[in-house]
Amino acid sequence: MHSIRPYRPTDRDDVYDVCVRTGAAGADATGLYSDDALLPDIFAGPYLAYQPDLAFVVDTGERVAGYIIAVENSRAFARWYDDNWLPRFRTAHPLDSAPNADERQVIGWGLDPRSSIVPEVDRFPAHLHIDLLPELQRQGFGRRLIDRLLAALHERGVPGVFLRVSSANASALAFYRRLGFRELPSSSPGSPVLGIATDTEV
Ligand SMILES: CC(C)(COP(=O)(O)OP(=O)(O)OC[C@H]1O[C@@H](n2cnc3c(N)ncnc32)[C@H](O)[C@@H]1OP(=O)(O)O)[C@@H](O)C(=O)NCCC(=O)NCCS
Repeated sequence: MHSIRPYRPTDRDDVYDVCVRTGAAGADATGLYSDDALLPDIFAGPYLAYQPDLAFVVDTGERVAGYIIAVENSRAFARWYDDNWLPRFRTAHPLDSAPNADERQVIGWGLDPRSSIVPEVDRFPAHLHIDLLPELQRQGFGRRLIDRLLAALHERGVPGVFLRVSSANASALAFYRRLGFRELPSSSPGSPVLGIATDTEV
């Protein structure tokens, strides 16, 4: 029986695994970069370390196969990242040893957490990442994870949440739009940015 529950530290390896297996615009990114930990060290690990109480998972009874993670204040998160995550990230993923431009670009995201912050951050201070293994997709878990997170942000008085999507991920874009996320002014077809208010009842 699948259940949605708060994240526990023992879920970390499963979250890393889900992040890699959905990391290529929704498809499997295993083997894409020199180190499979590169994507989760940017898009999962720091969130779990900084704000584990805003992480929720889908537990299949055997493992965690999906998650939503977020930070409530993207600017504060970036400051924390510089001091607490970046030193280890630099050592684990040296830019000099990246074999190609694609990998250099990804490492660049990990070196500059501010690059993902949107101009609309005052209205939408939080940001999120959500990923489900293929066997869990299109069964309502994504909607339930989003509902859970939006309720948690609302309770904390956070006014809104933004996210970035790969323009290649048409499926995720359709999902977010269906759930009421809307393109922010800084959004462009090549770099979609969506947001939703959490200061009204959700
Ligand atoms: C994107 C993702 C989180 C969506 O979660 P999900 O559990 O598959 O979606 P749900 O079943 O909860 O769907 C919720 C609603 O969105 C709609 N929807 C979901 N995917 C859709 C698609 N590809 N096209 C059109 N509508 C879609 C559903 O029909 C549903 O509508 P309804 O509730 O009104 O019937 C999930 O598919 C996923 O993890 N994909 C791979 C990783 C990824 O792309 N993550 C996002 C990176 S930005």
